[in-house]
Amino acid sequence: MKNYKTIISMMSGTSLDGVDACLVKIFDNLSFEILDSFSLDYPSDVKNKLLQLANNKGTVEDICFMNFVIGELFAKAANFLIKKAKIKKENIDFISSHGQTIWHSPFYKEIGGIKTKSTLQIGDISVIAYKTGIMTVGDFRTKDMAANGDGAPLVPFADKIIFGSDKNRLIQNIGGISNVTVLSKDCPIFAFDNGVGNMLIDFYMNKLFNLPFDKNGETAKRGKVDENWLNELLNEPYYEKTPPKTTGRELYNENYAIKKLKTAPSDKYDIIATITNLTARLIADSYKKFIFPKTNIEEIILGGGGAYNLTLIKFLKDYLQNTDIKTHEDYNIPNKLKECLAFAYLGYYTVNKKPNNEPSATGADDNVIMGKIAY
Ligand SMILES: Nc1ncnc2c1ncn2[C@@H]1O[C@H](COP(=O)(O)OP(=O)(O)O)[C@@H](O)[C@H]1O
Ligand SMILES: [Mg+2]
Repeated sequence: MKNYKTIISMMSGTSLDGVDACLVKIFDNLSFEILDSFSLDYPSDVKNKLLQLANNKGTVEDICFMNFVIGELFAKAANFLIKKAKIKKENIDFISSHGQTIWHSPFYKEIGGIKTKSTLQIGDISVIAYKTGIMTVGDFRTKDMAANGDGAPLVPFADKIIFGSDKNRLIQNIGGISNVTVLSKDCPIFAFDNGVGNMLIDFYMNKLFNLPFDKNGETAKRGKVDENWLNELLNEPYYEKTPPKTTGRELYNENYAIKKLKTAPSDKYDIIATITNLTARLIADSYKKFIFPKTNIEEIILGGGGAYNLTLIKFLKDYLQNTDIKTHEDYNIPNKLKECLAFAYLGYYTVNKKPNNEPSATGADDNVIMGKIAY
């Protein structure tokens, strides 16, 4: 009998850059093998519509329509990957899809005597299942929230499986938002969002250079860090809040970015340098405030698209001297596919009917089996 499942796992995060898909085997002993991958950029009008929704500027009709559009795009990414990898559909056990978050509210609101948090990931799994012909697992966050969790972060569950060891490690993802998982012998697993990741870099690159992101950090490298602007940007209550905590476009939205431009340096390269430095500084400061006092960290492993930004990594190394900083690629996981791999593990647990949330990270009342299945 075969001792593994072959999975296509798909993820799109807060950057709204597009769908990352990976073809991966997960073995019974929980080891993995990444076989192939494919990234499908969102067409610019899709990205703009998602940005509108994420900024609370869409209609219910838009949400209904985009749920199907994103389902189609995820299916397209999976079908491309199947062709690229020259694998037979019959040999794929299932698809695991995170979908696209358009709203996430880990705060209680009340109506009609009902108090609840809420979250919405679109990219309907029935659409994916039908258009690929493959059973699809998705919609993970809702079950954790139903159990009074924040529905996030979900990746620490997989971090523990992939990187759990005798070493005290930080698994640092730099996506649209930066988030860290603390794996240490000295304390239970915990995780939180450090603050902005690539989201502001992307916003200003788009506005000032008409480019979607700062490839390899080349633009930031040409600028100088403006300490005055940096200090002003650091003045934000979120950064002082003790974890667990999450943030997103509710803070770093278009209004925020445009308002902050008023006091920005005049040179557009300096703006990118400073905002890139901010991302590094928020990561380093959050370690110094919330992690280093609790545990001695031996290794930091960076992932997500931001791990390709060499200027960002240089800034981070400047702020965190004497700490061993690696990337996921040192562990044979492409930086860009890290979160994708994590959702392959979550889907694997759903299909095996085993709990896959991490209550110490999400605050949920119970260990629950997250995810729904479309056959
Ligand atoms: N070569 C690169 N150089 C610099 N930044 C990059 C590079 N590749 C990706 N990125 C950044 O990573 C972001 C996407 O990262 P990703 O991990 O997919 O985030 P998310 O999970 O939020 O979608 C892009 O928007 C971009 O800012
Ligand atoms: Mg992405």
